[in-house]
Amino acid sequence: MKLWGGRFKGEADAEFARFNASFAFDRRLIEADIEASIAHAEALVDAGVLTKAEAGKISDGLREIQTRARDEAGYFDGRDAEDVHSFVEAELVAAIGDAGYKLHTGRSRNDQVATDLRLFLRGEIDSMCDLICAAQRALVELAENNHDTIIPGYTHLQRAQPILFVHYLLAYYEMLKRDHARLIEARARVNQLPLGAGALAGSGFAIDREAVAKRLGFEGVCENSVDAVSDRDFVIEFIGAASIAMVHLSRLAEDLIIYSTSEFGFIELSDAVSTGSSLMPQKKNPDSLELIRGKAGRVFGHHAAMLATMKGLPLAYNKDMQEDKEALFDTIDTLRGSLKVMTTVLENVRVNDKKTRQAASIGYLNATDLADYLVRKGLEFRNAHELVGRVVMYAIQQGKPLEEISLEDYATFSELFGDDLYASLKLDSSLASKSAIGGTSRERVRDALQKARREIDHG
Ligand code: ARG
Repeated sequence: MKLWGGRFKGEADAEFARFNASFAFDRRLIEADIEASIAHAEALVDAGVLTKAEAGKISDGLREIQTRARDEAGYFDGRDAEDVHSFVEAELVAAIGDAGYKLHTGRSRNDQVATDLRLFLRGEIDSMCDLICAAQRALVELAENNHDTIIPGYTHLQRAQPILFVHYLLAYYEMLKRDHARLIEARARVNQLPLGAGALAGSGFAIDREAVAKRLGFEGVCENSVDAVSDRDFVIEFIGAASIAMVHLSRLAEDLIIYSTSEFGFIELSDAVSTGSSLMPQKKNPDSLELIRGKAGRVFGHHAAMLATMKGLPLAYNKDMQEDKEALFDTIDTLRGSLKVMTTVLENVRVNDKKTRQAASIGYLNATDLADYLVRKGLEFRNAHELVGRVVMYAIQQGKPLEEISLEDYATFSELFGDDLYASLKLDSSLASKSAIGGTSRERVRDALQKARREIDHG
């Protein structure tokens, strides 16, 4: 039976019926739909609508559909259901007879679909958090295996100051930590129960919504029935959080792509995440990272699409909102794939620490340390900066690094320069001086790495 046959005389146009249908993609909600329906059936017993026996029959029928959906290949094939809700109802009636038609009492597809989507997303957030933790673990392990490596830090992609490679990796660890926290915070707003809101006005039967929420593990109930069926903030918020995570993965991808070029030669990606060229035999391309970078764009697109879809909708439910599903599902698939591939990249990357150290030693990355040296001798920083700028210009003209300029030459720039200036130019003293919280000194970075290790091991 159609979900809404009675008022209609004519048949739906075939093209429109296809356009209207969401079963091809919303079948992904079937587990959630069944869990929510079982909870609803139990609530209908408490409300005096169903007998215990009827509810038991309905639950058994739903469990059977669940098993078939899990195990039976081709179960969904060739079915022309409008959506997952009508599919489940039709299957239920086929399995248990007309009692199945009682299940929809006091419920609308509007509160049903919102409930399904929230249940589904809650589970996806939990598994996404695990994947973020796995990526963080890969960062920490790469850091532990390269604890001595020094790389040039960049600003404007110009060599800036030397930093520990661990420090660089932990920057991404921090970003992923925020991504994880954002998902957990979003989860609390996802985890509210719409069911019992009916089409928009509330359920016509005495459903104990708090009991339903408890059964389904929701933290609370949506307080207003109109809002409950109209709200897709939780979808937009999740895709927003996913977008930020994709920004982070994309920036890491870009760094690693650059670092793996022959021009940099800092790292080598494993064959497992690289491809060759059909034409140029020598090529080893970082397709894995390029795709992560590329796929960030489609997630941002879903975010913009959902904002645009929702912005002009009058309250309450409108069919436009069916568009939420593909945006959400594709975001989940894309973020999940990107996290997994990035984790594999990190687990297998090889670091050339001679190359990175050499790059950190050439290009006047210690000029700031020389200015700091003069400040310690009493010069104002601005003047020290200017003076060292002139020393650098002189050194460039001589074709020498700062440590090869003689003390006599230094003396022509300032009488503050003494023998001890050479110590301040060393990579190690440059690192050691960055000893305030959050800096790249070895002690700070060792502590930060230990803290990260504790966090990933003990949560
Ligand atoms: N497939 C629909 C959706 O995803 C389910 C809700 C339909 N509700 C309605 N009033 N037509 O939004």
